[in-house]
Amino acid sequence: MPAATNPMRVDHAVEVLISQTQIATRIRSLAAEIASQYPHAGDGMTIVSVLAGSIIFLGDLVRSLPMRLRIGLVTVSSYAGAATTPMPPKLTWSSLANVAGRDVLIVDDILDTGGTLRLVQAAVRDAGARSVRTTVLLRKPGKAPASVTADFVGFDIDDVFVVGYGLDYDGLYRNLPYIGVLPPREREGGAT
Ligand code: XMP
Repeated sequence: MPAATNPMRVDHAVEVLISQTQIATRIRSLAAEIASQYPHAGDGMTIVSVLAGSIIFLGDLVRSLPMRLRIGLVTVSSYAGAATTPMPPKLTWSSLANVAGRDVLIVDDILDTGGTLRLVQAAVRDAGARSVRTTVLLRKPGKAPASVTADFVGFDIDDVFVVGYGLDYDGLYRNLPYIGVLPPREREGGAT
């Protein structure tokens, strides 16, 4: 894999996996696929986008979608307090989208184990959406249960930890314009 050539300061050894050009090209074709499946008139579509990892993908995708649309934002948080018992993830409607009776497209950065999307898809269905489909920029095939799927997928990738284009490590690297791989040694405390 080529080393990251972006002049932006990168403290960890991030290796480019999907370039800025590849992302831009794929988003245009993904938007065309999505646009062909939704009404362009009436209420168009309602997007429910999962913060914060999807922000860059969302921004580029919606600017390639020609139809009428509304955007709602949600966060999914895990409780991280003093308790040692893990708490189930919780969904917060950050910007309330009225999804009842609407054709909803959930937008997320990555389908990994599927825990996040399972929660969001169920919440949107429970809120009375007419239809619920999902797009993700990235998918790690075979990791999520068969019941959690995405209808429109940008790229299938190996089971590696990725950063950039909205995805972070410890809050960093969301602004990288490409998808990069952060090798395990870089996440365990410093470059080698
Ligand atoms: P799952 O599908 O496991 O994904 O519920 C939950 C969220 O975890 C984040 N995630 C990642 N973030 N590199 C990242 O920077 C990764 O390889 C990665 N895998 C999962 C992401 O925010 C996703 O929505």
